[in-house]
Amino acid sequence: MVVGPVGSGKTTLLRALLGEVHMNGTAIGIDQTSAGYCDQVSWLRNISIRDNIIGPARFDEAWYDTVLSCCLLQEDLREISGGDTALAGSGGAILSGGQKQRVVRPSTAHISD
Ligand SMILES: Nc1ncnc2c1ncn2[C@@H]1O[C@H](COP(=O)(O)OP(=O)(O)OP(=O)(O)O)[C@@H](O)[C@H]1O
Ligand SMILES: [Mg+2]
Repeated sequence: MVVGPVGSGKTTLLRALLGEVHMNGTAIGIDQTSAGYCDQVSWLRNISIRDNIIGPARFDEAWYDTVLSCCLLQEDLREISGGDTALAGSGGAILSGGQKQRVVRPSTAHISD
């Protein structure tokens, strides 16, 4: 867990680990071929809500239901026409800010901000 005051560089550290920040002199990185990163600013594709949640993973119904429950998404999905088959819209336009965060979070694998 990376903990520190506002503006102390937590996000910058994680982005540097992913190779997204230019470093002068020192090189840091992670010894992995793939990593999941959930940014503070949610990033959603205009595909179904379900596909946004699953990402590249294989669909596992029991695990998916657990994830929906943990992220308190079941009630939200009941109120959205089409439920989790609805397209998220450009930038997740059909979702509120809080819903976007809860749809994006489950797709995080190794690194979470
Ligand atoms: N590419 C960069 N090069 C140099 N400085 C940067 C770069 N990106 C961000 N910073 C600066 O680094 C500082 C830390 O920002 P950062 O967003 O990493 O903080 P944080 O700890 O994640 O804050 P918060 O708790 O608000 O999320 C800020 O002053 C920011 O302006
Ligand atoms: Mg941050």
